[in-house]
Amino acid sequence: MDRASSNLVELRDLKVAFDGVQVLHGIDLNVGRGEAVGLVGESGCGKSVTWLAALGLLPGKASVTGSVRLDGQELAGGPREAFEQVRGGRIAMIFQDPSSSLNPVLRIGRQIVEALSLHRGLRGDPAKREALRLLDMVGIPDARRRFDLYPHEFSGGQCQRLMIAMALAGEPDLLIADEPTTALDATIQAQILDLLIQLRAETGMATVFISHDLGAVSQVCERVCVMYAGRIVEEGSVAELFSEPRHPYTRGLFDAIPRIDGPRQRLIPIPGTVPNPKHLPEGCSFQPRCFRAVEACRSERPVLDTSADGRQLACFRPVQANEPVEPRARVTEDMLL
Ligand SMILES: Nc1ncnc2c1ncn2[C@@H]1O[C@H](COP(=O)(O)OP(=O)(O)OP(=O)(O)O)[C@@H](O)[C@H]1O
Ligand code: SF4
Ligand SMILES: [Mg+2]
Repeated sequence: MDRASSNLVELRDLKVAFDGVQVLHGIDLNVGRGEAVGLVGESGCGKSVTWLAALGLLPGKASVTGSVRLDGQELAGGPREAFEQVRGGRIAMIFQDPSSSLNPVLRIGRQIVEALSLHRGLRGDPAKREALRLLDMVGIPDARRRFDLYPHEFSGGQCQRLMIAMALAGEPDLLIADEPTTALDATIQAQILDLLIQLRAETGMATVFISHDLGAVSQVCERVCVMYAGRIVEEGSVAELFSEPRHPYTRGLFDAIPRIDGPRQRLIPIPGTVPNPKHLPEGCSFQPRCFRAVEACRSERPVLDTSADGRQLACFRPVQANEPVEPRARVTEDMLL
């Protein structure tokens, strides 16, 4: 096993097509041991498909190519068992909807005990003790009494906690959280984010946090990858990206969210929508929506490159520091309706 790399997971040139339509165009992404990486972008950009592909969870009709290494060991193209051993064990994934992970007809305690038996070989009293410890760890009050309840007897936020407890049963090195708080109200969202931060601090597991919510990403993550139309278009530390977004798309995402600090400003949504993967524009995929597009952007596609100051960016005309959005990208009243 090659352990020379400090990365826990390395995705290289990961591509996915459904029925001949390419939706992921070559993703290169590293996750370091214990690191928290955010993945942001509008709906349909390929955030979920990236990790479903990496874990071998896409349906058979999906064509997946590229390399997925865990601790230097290649998983892609290998036997199904290689993925199965890793999933739920060294890498766990939680989703927006807990019902996709919790079985509605099994008591919650039994589900966690089964996960402990599968991934850690625990049975009987030691398994029950560990399940109670996990329930306690994710903040389920009175876990001993609630051990034998069914999922529907818990609230939405508690179900999310139960799903996290199941994910922790395999003592994962990496937890992939795909929009884990989107369906919850704001107070519960904040609690689940706090829980993810606390668990990472306690266990040292790496986290991939997929979200539309840039605020949540900044709380949970150290590094962020911004995706657009099946590609990573900008990558950097949270501090860099939030203080000075360089890609016009990243800048657009920031301009479209309300600020709680600073003067009140009109929000500027990015005009238009994410293109259909079947009909991607020529050149840069973001070009029809971009306030900085020039002629070259319509014929050539920028590749993700490291700029002189070490930022990763795919753009011919990056945004300059404090540059206002140009008038032609400002939305008209009818776009706001
Ligand atoms: N099973 C599938 N069959 C066909 N196309 C799919 C399938 N799953 C995803 N896609 C397509 O792949 C593209 C990327 O989808 P993906 O679910 O990764 O987006 P996302 O960034 O996670 O969006 P969201 O924020 O809405 O979850 C989309 O165009 C989507 O329609
Ligand atoms: S390459 Fe051109 S169109 Fe694409 S984001 Fe940069 S400026 Fe905009
Ligand atoms: Mg998704």
